[in-house]
Amino acid sequence: MKVFVIGSGGREYALAWKIRQSPLVTKLYCAPGNAGIADIAECIDIKPADISGLLKFARQESIDLTVVGPEQPLTDGIVNLFEAHGLKIFGPSKSAARLEGSKVFAKRFMKNYGIPTAEYQSFTAEERFDAERFINEIPVPIVLKASGLAAGKGVSICETKEQALEILTMMLDEKVFGEAGTSVVIEEFLVGEEASVFALTDGKEFVTLVPAQDHKRILDDDKGKNTGGMGAYAPAPIVTDEMFKKVRHQIIAPTLRGMANEGHPYKGCLYVGLMITETGPKVVEYNCRFGDPETQVVLPLLDEDLVELMLASIDGTMKQNVHVKPQSAVCVVIASGGYPDAYETGKPIFGLENAVHDKDVVIFHAGTKHGHTKGEIVTAGGRVLGVTAIGSKDNLEETIDRAYRAVEKITFDGAYYRSDIGKKGVAWMKRLQMTEHR
Ligand code: AMP
Ligand code: GLY
Repeated sequence: MKVFVIGSGGREYALAWKIRQSPLVTKLYCAPGNAGIADIAECIDIKPADISGLLKFARQESIDLTVVGPEQPLTDGIVNLFEAHGLKIFGPSKSAARLEGSKVFAKRFMKNYGIPTAEYQSFTAEERFDAERFINEIPVPIVLKASGLAAGKGVSICETKEQALEILTMMLDEKVFGEAGTSVVIEEFLVGEEASVFALTDGKEFVTLVPAQDHKRILDDDKGKNTGGMGAYAPAPIVTDEMFKKVRHQIIAPTLRGMANEGHPYKGCLYVGLMITETGPKVVEYNCRFGDPETQVVLPLLDEDLVELMLASIDGTMKQNVHVKPQSAVCVVIASGGYPDAYETGKPIFGLENAVHDKDVVIFHAGTKHGHTKGEIVTAGGRVLGVTAIGSKDNLEETIDRAYRAVEKITFDGAYYRSDIGKKGVAWMKRLQMTEHR
């Protein structure tokens, strides 16, 4: 099979890396890819937003399976377009991708189908005064979300009502998020710890991959600004077997039934971003694609042929369970200094060869490209590398150490990483062991 991966980040490297392991695959392409992906796939210079350019390429090369990394092409309808031309593509249709593309749609959907999530109301610019009244009625912290896609910047957690009113003005009057902010969701703040679960589905049946935990803030101890994700580990012990059952029965199954019932069955990867609260798991957000950097820890633990699972999603033959390796995985993201704000690029990266000597370490490139001199690799984005280690399931600490030993071998001007990736997982494991012993 000829397989075509769309995107250029660490997630897409992990997808390409796993797809490459399938005996079904004879040729792998990636658009646009990065310096690391170029080692395992032929990179094509087409942007993910150029869906007609991607279609043209896929038709020209007779691609057998296309896999979409980022959300934008999915919410723009790339799946509908490819399918209309008889091409197999893994992912949800445009109307199903609204679970991520429109928070107003997602919240209304969850309310209608009794799927646990934060209490909320949504407002348009015409309903500004109602929005102000609502803000004055509910307790702080208050969460404000631009309804549409806002490149991960559309969520504000406001500690005071004044701050919430200010953000409201920015969204509805000043339109800082453009179209994406013409409707705003105002919701209750959920207390708990977050976890990410991916379901691969054909619209009816689904399998869940191992639960992971992301680290969204830029600084240690979850301080500082929100980012795309500074690291992840899996399995996340906070998602106990009992919790996982609830996620499957109270969230994923009713989501798929509801979407089918509404006439837009959801196929592809459904990412549920969860808050594990005292009263059970609640949905913080849906995403219509794999998570980054969670994919970099979830796929190395998947003991299945990913291509077969993707074909089952497309063909409507999804099974109910997957085999997972009895191991743990930890991914530490090395970012450019300044990220998630402005940062410089083009910095030569040193030590990559030294870092991969350990067979249990994989370096998933994210924002990298080839430099001017032979063999040189330079930074080209905010999140530069995802250094991933695999280790024993029962010894997460050892896996964390392995990841950081590799991280320390890599340098570039301004390199920054969090030093506490996985720490919460270790604390959970200790807590769970203590309750078991009691
Ligand atoms: P989202 O883009 O909806 O995932 O929101 C970004 C981040 O904001 C989430 O990963 C959470 O850390 C936080 N967040 C979003 N909604 C809530 C909420 N209702 N309560 C607490 N934290 C939230
Ligand atoms: N890691 C968060 C996301 O992929 O949206």
